[in-house]
Amino acid sequence: MRPEAPEWIARTAEYARAALGVEGTGHDWLHTERVWRVARWIAEREKVDITVVELAALLHDIGDHKFHGGDETMGRRLAGEWLRQLEVGEDLMAQITAIVGAVSFKGALVAAPEISAEGKVVQDADRLDALGAVGIARTFAYGGARGREIYNPAIPPVLHDSFEAYKNSSAPTINHFYEKLLLLKERMWTPTARVLAEERHGFMEKFLEQFYRELKTGLPEAAL
Ligand code: ADP
Ligand code: NI
Repeated sequence: MRPEAPEWIARTAEYARAALGVEGTGHDWLHTERVWRVARWIAEREKVDITVVELAALLHDIGDHKFHGGDETMGRRLAGEWLRQLEVGEDLMAQITAIVGAVSFKGALVAAPEISAEGKVVQDADRLDALGAVGIARTFAYGGARGREIYNPAIPPVLHDSFEAYKNSSAPTINHFYEKLLLLKERMWTPTARVLAEERHGFMEKFLEQFYRELKTGLPEAAL
């Protein structure tokens, strides 16, 4: 590890904590903190530059397009400005900003952009936080904040073939499970993340099963 790395990471964590703060759609500092922790855990089991992984994890949602009018370049730009100030050097800056620009989900049928080994670790950690109990909570919080319906049987899920269509969708929140969340398990890059994803995926399937059971009758099995 580079001698300056602990200082860079500590300062970047403070920057991200202040920038992301407290908010209600699941894109708060605590999301980034979880992604940071899980990314570090995965990175320790892979052949990657852990400094790049940690800095990219901390910066991955700075300037998220979902909160900047769909501007996909904002994250890369803000991360670049911060890293320049931190004086990490051109090479690290290029590696990290490339990850920040590529990490986000773009639609089920949209070809994934090239991403480095370090980027794969960050993307896996970010996607793990979209799954399981935390993933379910974040998804409904996001949908609610956008004024979306929870469920509407008249609007079926769509596998989006463009980022435009994906980001402009205002479909019910339950559709997001089929449009993204249930697809993530097969798209994990690292074996470590795959194992974690299996369990969280199983939990979401159970949740959906019960959700539909309650919608159908509203009554316990024994009463039918
Ligand atoms: P990404 O950059 O891959 O979208 P984020 O860390 O920004 O990942 O968080 C994405 C999370 O935001 C999703 O997993 C989900 O919980 C929530 N989210 C994003 N789009 C939607 C949507 N259309 N409906 C419900 N939740 C959404
Ligand atoms: Ni994220």
